[in-house]
Amino acid sequence: MSTALVPPAPPAASAVFGDRLGLAEAYAGLLCGVGVERGIVGPREGERVWERHLLNCAILAPGLPRDARVTDVGSGGGLPGIVLALARPDVRVTLVDSMARRVAFLNEVVAELALDSSIAVVRARAEELRRSDDVVTARAVADPVRLAGWSRGLLRPGGELQVLCGEAVAQDAVAVRAELTKRGWRSVSIEPVALEGINVSPVLRATRP
Ligand SMILES: C[S@@+](CC[C@H](N)C(=O)[O-])C[C@H]1O[C@@H](n2cnc3c(N)ncnc32)[C@H](O)[C@@H]1O
Repeated sequence: MSTALVPPAPPAASAVFGDRLGLAEAYAGLLCGVGVERGIVGPREGERVWERHLLNCAILAPGLPRDARVTDVGSGGGLPGIVLALARPDVRVTLVDSMARRVAFLNEVVAELALDSSIAVVRARAEELRRSDDVVTARAVADPVRLAGWSRGLLRPGGELQVLCGEAVAQDAVAVRAELTKRGWRSVSIEPVALEGINVSPVLRATRP
């Protein structure tokens, strides 16, 4: 796979990825190179690959339980799933996407970075898949209520949905919380999460009934 010139990793990336920073840099290179060429990410995403993609997704990493089994729904180019597998070598991540060319890209990244012991790739519509994982993650896939519906079939009882939200969801937090609570989800919160030296994003968390 070809890579492209990648902006240098900002200082916060060392703290997030530790001795896997080299792998994170290689992944950033694949996103900026073949990822842009094939339209997996937009043409202008290369210049903001660290802040908008790798580090934005990394804010979920500290909140994952030890040795968690994680399903990343609508993973696209591997966001946040690949970032989480890189930042947390103890977790096992399944990347799920319905689109063949995105799944092909994900398989190539996993092979290229030799991540096959910690990442599996599945082509499926999330709502048709059945799993029993500890955590479901998602970013920019569907509205939270829909995602929660899909996640019932992916999480074990007591497992947690963790969604990196846009500002629109954050502004609608009261209504989203009320709707998920009505549907039986527990401990529903939408709170800004920050990681030292990294941007802040609203994260929705909800526990499966
Ligand atoms: C806007 S992209 C976001 C990709 C990535 N999560 C990110 O933040 O860059 C949405 C992705 O969700 C996938 N997708 C949409 N509906 C899906 C479904 N029902 N099941 C699985 N994947 C789905 C699309 O194929 C696409 O790759």
